[in-house]
Amino acid sequence: MFSNINARIRTFSLVGLGAAALLNGTLVLAADCAPAQVEKGSQVFAGECGVCHSVNAGETLMGPSLHGVVGRPSGSLAGFSFSQAMKTKAVNWQAETIEQFISQPQAFVPGTYMPYMGLASAPDRQAVGCYLSKQG
Ligand code: HEC
Repeated sequence: MFSNINARIRTFSLVGLGAAALLNGTLVLAADCAPAQVEKGSQVFAGECGVCHSVNAGETLMGPSLHGVVGRPSGSLAGFSFSQAMKTKAVNWQAETIEQFISQPQAFVPGTYMPYMGLASAPDRQAVGCYLSKQG
């Protein structure tokens, strides 16, 4: 009986998700997060971000750990000294907002300490967004 209800709830939320995705056009993005995309994101991350960020929990390099960054409010990770700009931005990081941020960090968070000029390739930004959404 309970599993029946759960199955129904699942069906409803799946339908809801599909409709929402179609409405705002993110269906393609979601489909892009295939394993190959995540693998590509891991490579782009290693080349572009890995010098300053780890995806291991609690591992601080020049930048904060990005373990579990998706779903976390910006500038909130305990133990890291964020810029006031990053704390004030208070965006709840999602793959899409990370993609916007890494496109032009100073434009998305004016005054950020992140010394990175930006990643020009949209497919590379998307791949990194996918990869980070799978880290914790
Ligand atoms: C040269 C070092 C450096 C590089 C390269 C770099 N970052 Fe950062 N990153 C930082 C620093 C420092 C901060 C803290 C910024 C602040 O407090 O304003 C940061 C912050 C962030 C945050 C916000 C984290 C939070 O908890 O709010 C995200 C997301 C992020 N970086 C993603 C990336 C991605 C993805 C890349 C590669 C495309 C990248 N960064 C490249 C140094 C770097």
